Amino acid sequence: MADVKISRRALLGTAAGIALSNSVNRFAVAQGERVVDHRLVAQMGETQLLEPNEPATRIWGYGGAAPGPELRLKQGTEFSAELVNKLTQPTTVHWHGIRIVNNMDGVAGLTQPPVQPGDSFTYRFTPPDAGTYWYHPHFRTWEQLARGLHGALIIEEEKPPAVDQDVVMIFDDWRIGKDGQIDDASFESMHDISHAGRLGNILTLNGQFSADFPVLSGQRLRLRLINAATARIIRVSFDGHVPLVIALDGQPVEQPLSPEGGGVLLTPAQRADLILDCTSHPGTATDIAVDVGRERLVAGRLIYDERRRQRSKVLTDVPILAPNPMPTDIDLDDAVPIDLVMTGGARRPIESAEFKGKEYGIRDLVRQHKKAWAFNGIAGLPDKPLAVIDLGRTVVVRMVNKTAWRHAMHFHGHHVREVAHSARAALPHWRDTVFMQPDETVTVAFKAHNPGRWMLHCHMLAHQRGGMAAWYEVG
Ligand code: C2O
Ligand code: CU
Repeated sequence: MADVKISRRALLGTAAGIALSNSVNRFAVAQGERVVDHRLVAQMGETQLLEPNEPATRIWGYGGAAPGPELRLKQGTEFSAELVNKLTQPTTVHWHGIRIVNNMDGVAGLTQPPVQPGDSFTYRFTPPDAGTYWYHPHFRTWEQLARGLHGALIIEEEKPPAVDQDVVMIFDDWRIGKDGQIDDASFESMHDISHAGRLGNILTLNGQFSADFPVLSGQRLRLRLINAATARIIRVSFDGHVPLVIALDGQPVEQPLSPEGGGVLLTPAQRADLILDCTSHPGTATDIAVDVGRERLVAGRLIYDERRRQRSKVLTDVPILAPNPMPTDIDLDDAVPIDLVMTGGARRPIESAEFKGKEYGIRDLVRQHKKAWAFNGIAGLPDKPLAVIDLGRTVVVRMVNKTAWRHAMHFHGHHVREVAHSARAALPHWRDTVFMQPDETVTVAFKAHNPGRWMLHCHMLAHQRGGMAAWYEVG
């Protein structure tokens, strides 16, 4: 009897596994005469975010899972994915960090109409750059992403550097109530909107409460860290190991660098590619530690095999990634200047701001529209762009953070690099998401090489919801 029960359970498990992989990935779906490589079904699901003896959590996910399927393809090859919306809300998919053709950028209301419940939409593009990217909705992003809709999009180099394992690590936080379910009420919390955003109370790594990664002594790992949290700034370190950063936000760094203080700082939406050599002995375990403010959590472990080694001497050479074919020639003497003054939030509230073409006092902004922040005196996505830029021109954006809060400023369509920073020397890295501390002014530049309407917003998504959104137009 017991045997029957066990095998029946095993069978059910297998069947569910098959259904899941069908609905999410790696199934060619004929559509017209062309073949769509991937199918992303945005749907409800259930997952074990808490420890095994605690209740499962109802989530939204691609294929019902969080994170969704890891999508991998070679640089320069065409990609297509059909988004099927089985949610109760409209949705889209944004391919974060990809220098994409504008009408595939997935921004509801700016680059496409949202995909209604029951409808589908096929995304098709050819990613020009190798690197670590990710995908998530761009409609009610603060809610949909936090409910679990996100996944990794990995664009492989033609000749990737030699490593023994290439591992994606998606960090996320969740706000869970006592019943084990997502705290829905907090999505519209004015407190969260006007402070540090909606912070979770549970940290997961690849959707797990604690994730173990098997390694061999002497192995070289390429780790692709993604911060999918909607407000949480994290610092990731590997006890006793010294990683080297080889790429940030998908773009290779000129010289591999060791992270300050041994930890890799990631704001929401930022990524880092690391080389990590497994220098510990067989049979040991290494904590994957995540510092959040003053707290240190353990998100998972590297588990060293008890006997086997990959090699007895640890590799010492450092692989350098070839630069991506991204235009990096910027001409600061002939640049289009954009000023972006960031105001509002708790402690230094705005008195008034424009919203949808009308001026409102702060009380109405907060009560009627849940807006607490402004860019250049405007709350929410304006009708007009910050600037219309001729193709090929250099743009210099001076971002002035007059708020008392930290922000993660995300540019769509282009990567940017610092040219001036009020608190330190400008860093040479190309990024799509820029960390800003209170009272800092960060000036970034980029070459406007990608035509279209591109959004620029804070990726602490409660801030975006609360007003921190703008756009610029190229071409
Ligand atoms: Cu990761 Cu505008 O988004
Ligand atoms: Cu912000």
